[in-house]
Amino acid sequence: MAGLNVVVVGATGAVGTVFLKVLEQRKFPVMDLKLVASPRSVGKRIRVRGKEYTVEALGPDTFKGADIAFVSADGSISKVACPQAAQAGAVAIDDSSVFRMETDVPLVVPEVNDDDLERHKGIVSIPNCTTTPLAMTLHALRQGAEIKRVTVATYQAVSGTGRAAMDELTEQSRAALDGREHPPKAYPHPIAFNLLPQVDSFLDNGYTREEWKMVQETRKILHLPDLPISSTCVRVPVQVCHSEAVHVEFDRPMTAAEARELLSRMPGVKVLDRPEQSEYPMPLQAAGTDETWVGRIRQDASHPNGLAFWVVSDNLRKGAALNAIQIAEEMQRRELLPAGRSQARSSQKNTEAGRQPAKAHAQANSTFEEDFRWYKAHKSELLLKYGGVYVAIIGGRVVDSDPDFGKLAPRVFAKYGHRDTLMPHVTREDRTIEMPSLITVIPAQ
Ligand SMILES: NC(=O)c1ccc[n+]([C@@H]2O[C@H](COP(=O)([O-])OP(=O)(O)OC[C@H]3O[C@@H](n4cnc5c(N)ncnc54)[C@H](OP(=O)(O)O)[C@@H]3O)[C@@H](O)[C@H]2O)c1
Repeated sequence: MAGLNVVVVGATGAVGTVFLKVLEQRKFPVMDLKLVASPRSVGKRIRVRGKEYTVEALGPDTFKGADIAFVSADGSISKVACPQAAQAGAVAIDDSSVFRMETDVPLVVPEVNDDDLERHKGIVSIPNCTTTPLAMTLHALRQGAEIKRVTVATYQAVSGTGRAAMDELTEQSRAALDGREHPPKAYPHPIAFNLLPQVDSFLDNGYTREEWKMVQETRKILHLPDLPISSTCVRVPVQVCHSEAVHVEFDRPMTAAEARELLSRMPGVKVLDRPEQSEYPMPLQAAGTDETWVGRIRQDASHPNGLAFWVVSDNLRKGAALNAIQIAEEMQRRELLPAGRSQARSSQKNTEAGRQPAKAHAQANSTFEEDFRWYKAHKSELLLKYGGVYVAIIGGRVVDSDPDFGKLAPRVFAKYGHRDTLMPHVTREDRTIEMPSLITVIPAQ
C-alpha cells in the first residue's frame, strides 16, 4: 500500500486513542500524520509508532494535502470537518451519526457491504457501535435463510458515551462504595450499580434515538429497507464492550448447529458457545479484541422459525476505530483514495496490461484449473484467503454493480449448496462486479 497523508480529528478521545493504537497494530501505511482535538488539547504531545506528534486545533488548512481524514469527535464537529475534508480532496471517514442515513454517504461494515464504498462522494460513515455487530451476525445468518423479523436488547458500555463517562463510572463506583454522593453528569441518573433504559434522547414514537439508529442503519447496511426490527437499548455499568440479546425469525426453522456453522464462516465473527462449561462471550473477555463474539445460540422456544443468541463486541474497536481503519484499507485496495488513484494512474501509464487480462479472461470459456492459475498469476486479490481457505471464483459472468447482491445468495446456495459456496463481492478493474456462477473452496496451502 502507498503511504497516505492522514488526519485524525478527535485524536485524544475514547475512540481516537484506540484508533491510534489500531493504526499501529495494523501497520496502516501512513506517510504523514496530523492529530487534531479541541483547543483544550492543543500542544499536547502524543507518540505514535515511535514518533511524537503535537495536537493541533481544527483550522482552515487542516486537510490541505490530506488523503484521508478519520473524524471521531462530536457530531457538530463532524458537520464542519467532513465536508471541509472532502472539499480539500480527502476522503472523510466519520464516526458520528450526522451523515449515516444520507443517500450519498455509504454506511459500511467492510465484511458486509464493502461494495457500497464504490458510491462514495468524499464522506463515508461508520455505523453505530451497536449496529455493526448486529449487522455482521444477521449477514452471516441470512446466507442460510431469509430474515423475517429481528428484536434486540442491548447492554451498552459507558465508553460508548466517551472518555468523560468512563471516568464518571469509576468515580461514581468509588464514591458509592465509600458511602459518598457523586452526582451524574454524563447521564440523567447515576450509572454505578445501576442500569439505564435510555441511550440518547427520546423520539415521539417512544423509542430512543439510539434504538432508532439501530433500526435504520441495520436496514441500510443489509440493503433490506423494510426489515422489521425492534430494539431496546440499555446503558450498563461496564467500561468497554457492548452486548446484545438478539432474537431473529426466519422463513424456515434454523437449528443452533446450522447457525453456529454460518456464524463461524463469517469473517470477523467468532463463536464462543460452550454453555455446559459456562463459556460464552462477556465484556471482560472480549474487550481489546477485534472479533464480534457470539454465544448462547439456541432455537427460540416461542417461535418455530426463531433463533436466539448473545453478541459481544468491543465498541471502541470493531464498533468504531477498527471498522474505520478497515474501511480505509478496503478503499485503498480498491484505489478509491486519492493516493491510490494517483498510483493507479502512474502504473497504468507504465503497463500495457491494465485491464486487458480481465476483459480477455471474462470472455474465455476456461476450466476451473485455468481460471485458478489465471487469477493467481494476474489478480491475486480475486483469490481470497478466507478464514483458512482460498476462495477461487470461476465461471463468472460480468454484471452491473448490484446493490442487492445479497438477495441472490439463496439462489446460488440452492443450486450448489452453501457448505462449499461463499459469496464474496468481487470488483474488477473496470469497476463492475463479477457475479460468480460458482465459487469453489479449496484448502489454503
Ligand atoms: N465511543 C464509542 O464507542 C463510539 C462508537 C462509535 C462512534 N462513536 C462516535 O465517535 C465520536 C467520538 O466519540 P468518543 O467516544 O471518542 O468521544 P470523546 O471521548 O468525548 O472524545 C471526543 C474527541 O473529540 C475532540 N473534540 C472535542 N471538541 C473538538 C473541537 N472543537 N475540535 C476538534 N476536536 C474536538 C476531543 O478533544 P479533547 O480531548 O481536546 O476534548 C476528543 O478528542 C462521536 O461522534 C461518537 O458518537 C463513538
